[in-house]
Formats: sequence, C-alpha cells, structure tokens
Amino acid sequence: MKILVTGGAGYIGSHVVNALGERGHDIIVYDNLSTGHEWAVLCGKLEIGDIEDSSRLNAVMNAFRPDAVMHFAALIQVEESVREPLKYYRNNVANTLNLLDAMDRNGIRSFIYSSSAAVYGIPDKLLVDESVPLHPINPYGASKAMVETVLGDMPQTGDFRFIALRYFNVAGADPKNRIGQAYLDATHLITRALKTAQGEFAKLFIFGTDYPTPDGTCIRDYIHVVDLANAHLLALDYLMETRRSDIVNCGYGRGFSVREVVAAAKKVTGINFPVEEAPRRAGDPPQLVADSTKLRSITGWQPCHDDLEFIIRTAWNWELKLKQLKKQL
Ligand code: UFG
Repeated sequence: MKILVTGGAGYIGSHVVNALGERGHDIIVYDNLSTGHEWAVLCGKLEIGDIEDSSRLNAVMNAFRPDAVMHFAALIQVEESVREPLKYYRNNVANTLNLLDAMDRNGIRSFIYSSSAAVYGIPDKLLVDESVPLHPINPYGASKAMVETVLGDMPQTGDFRFIALRYFNVAGADPKNRIGQAYLDATHLITRALKTAQGEFAKLFIFGTDYPTPDGTCIRDYIHVVDLANAHLLALDYLMETRRSDIVNCGYGRGFSVREVVAAAKKVTGINFPVEEAPRRAGDPPQLVADSTKLRSITGWQPCHDDLEFIIRTAWNWELKLKQLKKQL
C-alpha cells in the first residue's frame, strides 16, 4: 500500500515507518523536522513540509495518491500546552483539519490517528477502557480529544474511516538501536532517569510520594514503542479490510510505580544515580493503566516486549548511542 506518514521523522512515527517499510509498503514521510530528524527515516521518501501548509499537503497527496494517511505530527508537551494553549490548538487541531481537508480534496478516505491517554484526564477507574468519559485536564489532551470529536463526525459524511489509537506511556527504542527518542528537552520518566544515570542531570526528582497507590508514587502503563508501532500496522490492516472506524487504547494493562521504574533503571544501567523526593507535578493522575482488550480483540495484537527491563534496556542502549552521536557533531 501507499502510505503518507506525517511526523514520520519523530520518535513514534519513525518506528512505525520502519515497521511499514519492513512489510514492503511504499511510504512518504511528511515532516517539518521541528522535533524529528532526517536520520530517523529508515524507509521511504522524506518530504520536508508543514501540516500548516495546505497547498504543499495538497501537492504531495496529489502526486503520491496514498491509500491511507497516518498522522503523527503533533506537539506533545503537557506543560508547554498549559503555557501556550493556542499553539497546541493551532497545530494539533487546526492543522489536522488542513490535513483532513487535503485528504478530502484528493479522495483519500482512510486515516490512522495518534491520540493519547491524556484525553481521559484523571479517570475514576483503575483499568481504563475506551468507554471511560473524556475529561482532559490540559490543552494537549483537549486538542487530542477535539480531533477525535471531528473524526467521530466524519464517517457519517460519506466514505471516510479512521482508527484513533490512544497511547499510554510510550518508551523504549528500536532493539537494533538505529532510532529512538531524541527530544531536546526530555521530560519523560524513563528518559530522564537514564539521562541522570549518564550524568546529564544531577539528580532525578520523584514528583509526589503521597498518592493513593501502594508506594505513594504514580502508576503508569509503559508500552514499548515497537509494540505500539505494530499496533498501528494491525490497525491499518483492520481499517482497510473492514472499513470500520474505531478508537483503541494502547498499553499492556499492567502498571509500574515511579519507584519501580527508578529501581529497574538502576538495575539495567548498573548505576545508583541520585534520586530526590519532590512535591507532586500539577495534573498527574495517580494511576493510568490501559484496558487494551478492544485492540487485542479487533486486530489480534499481541505484545512482544511486555517487559519493563527490556523497555529500559533498549532506551539505555539508545541513550548511550545518542551521547556518542552528539560528541561527533
Ligand atoms: N515523573 C517523575 N520524575 C520525572 C519525570 C516524571 O517522578 O523526572 C513521574 C511523573 O510525575 C508521572 C510519571 O513519572 O507520575 C510518568 O511521567 P511522564 O512524564 O513520563 O509521563 P506522563 O504520564 O506524564 O505522560 C505521558 C505522555 C502524555 C500521555 C500520557 C499517557 O507524556 O502525552 O503519558 O499516559 F498522555
């Protein structure tokens, strides 16, 4: 199939592009390289462009005529979204409408959308399934929920179908160590812990130790980026075969506390890096664990890397490589 992948030079997008390439799909990556990297595009052709640019999107689609669009290009930092909401609504909502318009003009009717567990806000259920009401608590989560609303209205207008994948905590890197997360200002727990182990930060802060969880720290469902990439490929197959729109949670259904992640990071790296307990970070739900029954049942998805230490080891190998690459630049 011919697939247009926006944001395919970024962390999750590049792993999906690699998986698509391995299955022999014909790919165009459309990315403005604001957080993505040319070296991360292991397969297909890279078109450097912005999803704000309607005429460019139109021209690329018109020339390539993809069977489907997979949309990863988005801003993803929760704290930044609180400081600069308009930037998030413009990029994540208005620019996604540009993309959908360009698809419409070119008769492209199949869409795979990167959504997030951030749409749930602070769920009152321990295991979150897709029927849990959406109450996003920051502009990032709200922007993802708004696009889901738009998508939900579109199948009724005619021949359009989509799958939205709501990601829980994505982590890890390509087991062959070719690609991985390379944001300039990493805020995620595993990346932050590994950068602290490398000495990039003096210490790791544990944000909040008084949560209503067994060890007082927040619990998250960490999913390996390669398992997430495979979920996208299966979702695409499902969409093309059944033409049915749906929304699915992506996670393993098992949570780890911040303290458990820190202990695993120390074990994998062999480095007893400094850790300090700190106050809660605003907007953190105590527990966020996916019920991914629907993803498994409709697509047949089965994770291969459901192992916290494996997730951390691949991320650690990647961090070590990234450090070498930075030294060479
Ligand atoms: N944490 C720390 N110290 C750090 C970084 C994080 O204690 O230095 C804690 C956080 O407070 C939180 C947990 O580790 O309790 C996980 O935090 P992350 O920043 O790694 O991830 P989040 O759960 O906040 O958010 C991520 C994505 C969101 C997505 C969400 C879905 O960034 O986009 O997962 O579960 F919506």
